[in-house]
Amino acid sequence: MEVTPSILTADFSNLGETLDEAAAAGINWFHMDVMDGNWVENKTITFGPALIRSARDRLGPNVFIDCHLMVTNAEETWNQYVDAGVDMVIAHIEAVNDFPQLIINLHDAGVQAGCVLNPETPTDAILDLLPDLDLVLVMSVVPGKGGQQFMPEVEAKVATFRTAIDAQSASGARVPLLMIDGGVKDHNVAMIAEWGIDIAVVGSGLINENGSIAENLSSINAALGQ
Ligand code: DX5
Ligand code: ZN
Repeated sequence: MEVTPSILTADFSNLGETLDEAAAAGINWFHMDVMDGNWVENKTITFGPALIRSARDRLGPNVFIDCHLMVTNAEETWNQYVDAGVDMVIAHIEAVNDFPQLIINLHDAGVQAGCVLNPETPTDAILDLLPDLDLVLVMSVVPGKGGQQFMPEVEAKVATFRTAIDAQSASGARVPLLMIDGGVKDHNVAMIAEWGIDIAVVGSGLINENGSIAENLSSINAALGQ
């Protein structure tokens, strides 16, 4: 299982160094949490395309960058993130009216398409989209901020997606990756890997005051036995 950092708990005045530190620790996938002050319950604003462009320029072309759009108008603004250099746009099923069309638009623009659902959203909202998606993201916290408690009850949802994705793979079709986001730490990461997650977003478990990113990543990798 791969780990990708969320930078929400970073000191943004030192963001360049933090990105370098993560890259030097071997991270090659970065997760950018965009909140517009509207869509998430706590009305948080994080950052937008300009910061992502700076991160892309700093990290260079060889890392993978996704943006997790927690915004009301992803269908109108996704292209700004493509212009900022992301490889994948992940939009919320609850916030998009015509998801199949958004997937087409993203693929036509040359980027990958991800779909994310909140802890309370049923899986059937997304199952029909699996053949066209590059990634499915299961939220294991209510989106809005870093450092929240992991919600183990999303296990059933992960299992439903894992089974559906594996069935799609068995029929020879290409399949989306399965990602989880929120509250992932060294103490629960092995359980999540056993659930069949491909990529875990780790924010406060990687970027915190207890250790460097390299130290925190090696605790996570040790828990994963890798
Ligand atoms: C939640 C975001 C996150 C999250 C990750 O709204 O999507 O990616 O902040 O941070 P931790 O790992 O601290 O929960
Ligand atoms: Zn996220």
